[in-house]
Amino acid sequence: MKLSDLKVVVTGGASGMGRRFVERLLEGGARVAAWDMNEEGLAALQADHPGAALLAQRVDVSKEEQVAQAMGAAWEALGGLNALVNNAGIFRDSLLVKRDKATGEVQTMTLSQWQTVLDVDLTGPFLCTRELSRRLVEGGGETPAVIVNISSVSRAGNMGQANYSAAKAGLVADTVTWAKELARYQIRVAAIAPGFIETPILQGMRPEMVDKMVQQVPLRRLGGADEIFAGVRFIVECEYFTGRCLDIDGGLRL
Ligand SMILES: NC(=O)c1ccc[n+]([C@@H]2O[C@H](COP(=O)([O-])OP(=O)(O)OC[C@H]3O[C@@H](n4cnc5c(N)ncnc54)[C@H](O)[C@@H]3O)[C@@H](O)[C@H]2O)c1
Repeated sequence: MKLSDLKVVVTGGASGMGRRFVERLLEGGARVAAWDMNEEGLAALQADHPGAALLAQRVDVSKEEQVAQAMGAAWEALGGLNALVNNAGIFRDSLLVKRDKATGEVQTMTLSQWQTVLDVDLTGPFLCTRELSRRLVEGGGETPAVIVNISSVSRAGNMGQANYSAAKAGLVADTVTWAKELARYQIRVAAIAPGFIETPILQGMRPEMVDKMVQQVPLRRLGGADEIFAGVRFIVECEYFTGRCLDIDGGLRL
């Protein structure tokens, strides 16, 4: 598939990597539905890219009805769909159990911290993938299509991220499951596990924390959103690629 063939939904398209994916896809000639909950970000994206090739939709990917309704609207507006990038994601970091050295007080990850991350980072891709695939299969399952899931290096387990690691590992497991289940309908499913990438998520961190992170990376720098988009482009274009996860992380997992 070529970028110019794509009619694609990008979740989390108003910020960070998602926004860069939307821009690069539009430059490549794709028609794009950008989904996000950040209305300001969506409005800015739409203002920067006026025209019929971009549809900006306010969608919470963790809500079943919203995803079903938005997928129908995007299908209608773009004249069908043949691609999805499950990129929307959040984290709510906390240790499972932590004792404060000074006070002796014990704190835990709350059920809400656990559930919110699972809802957005794992249930979201499940709902989006199901709603797109259902429509493709209803249409006869003869049109090639591709789904890219954005996981994380944290899928291998990371301190303070029991919720995020579980969601991102689950997403790679489901990448394999869906690749196996959907191949018969010409739908490929693959994942990317980015390392530390320069996006607004990192801007909230103290510079010394970011330095500490960079020291763990064999290539000694943060990655860029365009380097992750190179992975998206590869997955779109290589039609023999399915069911695998590309680690694009500067060697972090070596
Ligand atoms: N930045 C990194 O270092 C890094 C590393 C590994 C993986 N990732 C993953 O890459 C993806 C993009 O991250 P980013 O760094 O660009 O972050 P970001 O915060 O800049 O972008 C995430 C976007 O998702 C949107 N979003 C959040 N909840 C949503 C929901 N319920 N429904 C719809 N949209 C929602 C946000 O509004 C935001 O626009 C995420 O899945 C993240 O987990 C990021």
